[in-house]
Amino acid sequence: MRIHLLKRNIKLVILVAAIFVTMCYLAGIYGLKPQNSQLSDYELVPMYGGHRENNEKPSPFDDYDDPFSSSLITDLKVYNKVKGNKCLEQRDFVFIKTMKCATQTMVQIFRRYGYRRHLNFVLPRGGNIYLGWPYIPELQDYRPSKRPFNALAEHSVYNETVMKSIMPKTTHYVTIIRKPFSQFKSSFHYFNVANISRMKTTKDDISEYLHHLDMYETFYKTPAASATRYCIPDEFSVTKNLLSHCLGMPLGFPAGRENITSQSGKVAEYIEMLDRNFMLVMIMEYFHESLVLLKRLMCWSMEDIMYHTVNVGQYSYKDKTPDPENLKIYKNWSGVDFLLYDHFNQSFWKKVKHQGDDFFDEVKTFNDIHTRVSKYCSNLEEGENSMTILATAFSDHFVVTKEYCVMLGVDLLTFLKTRMEREEGWVNQDTGNKGPKRGC
Ligand SMILES: *[C@@H]1O[C@H](CO)[C@@H](O)[C@H](O)[C@H]1NC(C)=O
Ligand SMILES: *[C@@H]1O[C@H](CO)[C@@H](O)[C@H](O)[C@H]1NC(C)=O
Ligand SMILES: *[C@@H]1O[C@H](CO)[C@@H](O)[C@H](O)[C@H]1NC(C)=O
Ligand SMILES: *[C@@H]1O[C@H](CO)[C@@H](O)[C@H](O)[C@H]1NC(C)=O
Ligand SMILES: *[C@@H]1O[C@H](CO)[C@@H](O)[C@H](O)[C@H]1NC(C)=O
Repeated sequence: MRIHLLKRNIKLVILVAAIFVTMCYLAGIYGLKPQNSQLSDYELVPMYGGHRENNEKPSPFDDYDDPFSSSLITDLKVYNKVKGNKCLEQRDFVFIKTMKCATQTMVQIFRRYGYRRHLNFVLPRGGNIYLGWPYIPELQDYRPSKRPFNALAEHSVYNETVMKSIMPKTTHYVTIIRKPFSQFKSSFHYFNVANISRMKTTKDDISEYLHHLDMYETFYKTPAASATRYCIPDEFSVTKNLLSHCLGMPLGFPAGRENITSQSGKVAEYIEMLDRNFMLVMIMEYFHESLVLLKRLMCWSMEDIMYHTVNVGQYSYKDKTPDPENLKIYKNWSGVDFLLYDHFNQSFWKKVKHQGDDFFDEVKTFNDIHTRVSKYCSNLEEGENSMTILATAFSDHFVVTKEYCVMLGVDLLTFLKTRMEREEGWVNQDTGNKGPKRGC
């Protein structure tokens, strides 16, 4: 029995690996020669976004070996169970991926959601992973599509005008933020700030940095350090009001852009605008509460908000409570992010309150299911072929398969790109951009 199961598993892994290699290969071919015959095929692809009625039942996967075929959802309208009632799933969204706020985990949820429903994603060109970030997105940053877009989840700076011009009216905007000092420590580590700003080894890099901000910031941002900063352009700060920058606040980058950093009235106004335009600003400190709120507001299922933790940085100063002196300096340095955080933490809890008492029952239910799914998916060799999660007051029953577990872990960006190349005959071209570095 064991051996039999093991064989099945090996087969599954080999299958997924083989498909992956094939897809990379296809991506290579499609990148080299135009496949004009593919151009007409897009008409066959259904849109599930709700802004195009499509009653026919096309089969978009006829000539396409989808690695996750048994996980695909092809129903045009799906009603999920939210607070004991049924409501219609919302399928158009923009997720603004702020830096170092569990966004890798979140983006996997959004990609998987859209992949399974064949949504049309705004995707970076070529091998890029950013939609122009840290610049406001422009056409040179994404792959245009012949179909309307439903979804945007890759790294992008929010800009009301640009987003409205790309996305349908029915789009729901979502983002996630975290306590600014924790976010700073995580960015400091991730962007290799100590090393790039030529800091000598110290006992407490964070403290050393904060006590000589101008000096280290200057080093970090110079063209001389450009090669070690990879995706970060000259003159861009990765430690100062980064959350607000990602949400599109004009803070003086790139050169020539308005800088409202010290105009508290304008900052407050901008935050109010975000509050109006975003359906939900998730808070990393309350991650499961945030996911359940997302589920309820979008009318998604429990299965949709499941996740597998990825991209968790390990660094020694991670869990330390901030030294009051350091916190004070940082608050002075990156004050706009503190205003942003306080505002959205307040509005988050207002939204939770609005949900009623059973909200926390649902969070508890989600915690339990998440624990079971994580355990099952971490031990695929030993376990049964699938696991059934029974219906609860907040969710319908669903079956967790090994394929679903694999999908929780793989980088679906590659799959989304390949699918678009297949279906739209998209060919990567040099955009001829001669401007500043927008290479990631
Ligand atoms: C949004 O983008 C447009 C076009 O690039 C620009 O004119 C506008 O200033 C931007 N808005 C903000 C708030 O930066
Ligand atoms: C710091 O940078 C130097 C050279 O720039 C490199 O050799 C070294 O490995 C880096 N250290 C870390 C921890 O990244
Ligand atoms: C914007 O203004 C603030 C102070 O008002 C300044 O500290 C910051 O460096 C400016 N940003 C840019 C990118 O120049
Ligand atoms: C706050 O920042 C300003 C300049 O940005 C600086 O002159 C001042 O010394 C800082 N105050 C503290 C307490 O760090
Ligand atoms: C967020 O707001 C709640 C409710 O006002 C408060 O109790 C909590 O301390 C705040 N959380 C953080 C991390 O500031």
